[in-house]
Amino acid sequence: MGNVLSFSRKHGKLAKSKNTQNVQKKTEPLKYYLPNFITDTDIMVMSHFFDRYLFQCNFKAPIEEKLTSGRCKVLDVCCGAGTWLLDMASAYGSSNFFGIDLCFVFPTEIKPENVQFKLGDVLEGLPFDDNTFDYVHQGHMVDVFTLDQWHFAITEIIRVCKPGGYVEFAEPELATNSGPILSKFYDALVELSESRNVKIRMYDNIIGILNSTISVQNVESKKEVISLGLKKGGYVGNEYLMIHNEFFLNVPMPETLSKFMGLSEREYLELYKRAKNEVESVFSPDCEVYKIWCQKR
Ligand SMILES: C[S@@+](CC[C@H](N)C(=O)[O-])C[C@H]1O[C@@H](n2cnc3c(N)ncnc32)[C@H](O)[C@@H]1O
Repeated sequence: MGNVLSFSRKHGKLAKSKNTQNVQKKTEPLKYYLPNFITDTDIMVMSHFFDRYLFQCNFKAPIEEKLTSGRCKVLDVCCGAGTWLLDMASAYGSSNFFGIDLCFVFPTEIKPENVQFKLGDVLEGLPFDDNTFDYVHQGHMVDVFTLDQWHFAITEIIRVCKPGGYVEFAEPELATNSGPILSKFYDALVELSESRNVKIRMYDNIIGILNSTISVQNVESKKEVISLGLKKGGYVGNEYLMIHNEFFLNVPMPETLSKFMGLSEREYLELYKRAKNEVESVFSPDCEVYKIWCQKR
């Protein structure tokens, strides 16, 4: 989503940038998306409330008691607009919440007192000591990190979590039973991602990484399934279709993905209209959204 950030080719790491204006100046051919536009924040906010409705909660790790009793220290890594954190901070007023993101998309002034945001790059190492947080959360990063970066980010997340604390990941998976037209968009997205060494379908990988990490135990997961579109999925399916629309129709997707599909941007937009009709009239793909959590030993 959003605009692009340059990579340091030498190290294959994200170039450091203090704000999105710097990012725009450094723009190179598409490597990675950043939330530079208000529509990107909209998607993050919509996705948060969609997930919360689908799971009827903001987390699955068994931390409710700790959160309620207070003194729980929570970190949201790559927190974006901070919607998940703000929601959590309002619900658990006596616990403390921290968010970190590469970009200034989080609120700096108008926020509850128990929330702090910080600029930072998880791939440079989280700027916190070992064993600092009771619970560390990260969501919606499947289209961002390469597999190597996932390994690094997970190691960092576990490092800053206290022994006995929990880490949790919340991500969506692309549907596997989409109709032929929407499949063209999904296939192009997978191809674009693979060209950046990014795996869009990460469920098995995250589970695999956690299961092979000796410093964590009790890896658990929960999936929810929603049919895309109003016809089969009802209002929730319609909401998820709107999130899809925002993702596929906002800058820079039409320009970028159309090239992978051998289409002009105009043809891309026309075809996407047909994909929406396909979803509403014939095929309603079943989309999975999942949470994976485990405890640090
Ligand atoms: C798709 S958004 C997800 C935001 C948020 N987690 C949510 O669920 O709404 C991805 C976010 O990750 C941030 N990000 C990407 N790479 C990062 C990095 N290496 N360190 C910190 N934040 C990063 C982006 O700036 C963006 O806000």
